Amino acid sequence: MLCLVTATDPGWAERAVDELPLLLADHAHCEMKAASNALSLAARLPEHPSICRTLVALAKEELEHYDAVLAELERRQIHLPPPAVDSYAADLRAAARREGRPSLQEALTDRFLVAALIEARSCERLSLIAKALATRGETALALFYDDLFASEARHYTTFVDLAIALSGDEPRVRARLNSLAAAEGAIAARLGHLPAVHG
Ligand SMILES: [Fe+2]
Ligand SMILES: [Fe+2]
Repeated sequence: MLCLVTATDPGWAERAVDELPLLLADHAHCEMKAASNALSLAARLPEHPSICRTLVALAKEELEHYDAVLAELERRQIHLPPPAVDSYAADLRAAARREGRPSLQEALTDRFLVAALIEARSCERLSLIAKALATRGETALALFYDDLFASEARHYTTFVDLAIALSGDEPRVRARLNSLAAAEGAIAARLGHLPAVHG
């Protein structure tokens, strides 16, 4: 799916949905992290107003997702604990670290590509969750996850487009995306067992 090089273990979604409270709580934190990451990128790019506005629009959408997941937690009376350590994102950022001192443009282009990969994996996992929920008769929640799946697919494209716009060198960005996608595949295969969106 999208640029992903490994597929999530088909049994993962069933195991994750077995622990729906943990999954929903982790998902809420993912949406907040996506919103704050988009804003922190926007803050670093004041000289690129069109990129900033795209990021602000994306952050608003992620906050709407966050709010919707919070409402679901409230409806189900699930407590939201503080976020757990995000090994997936930390390992992915580490994989993107370059030798020497990258330029600001290179560093931010990589951050866009890391964000694109996180969106791609979220997109794949949310679609698996939607299917697992539908088979359990959780129809409303399954539809909600189907909607989110479509948004995350768009966000993936947005981040790749932003990386290309910032770097101005599409072939280089695509080559870098392919190499980061290989690293992401290894990380997701190593984790990929917990009831967490990227766990
Ligand atoms: Fe989202
Ligand atoms: Fe997203």
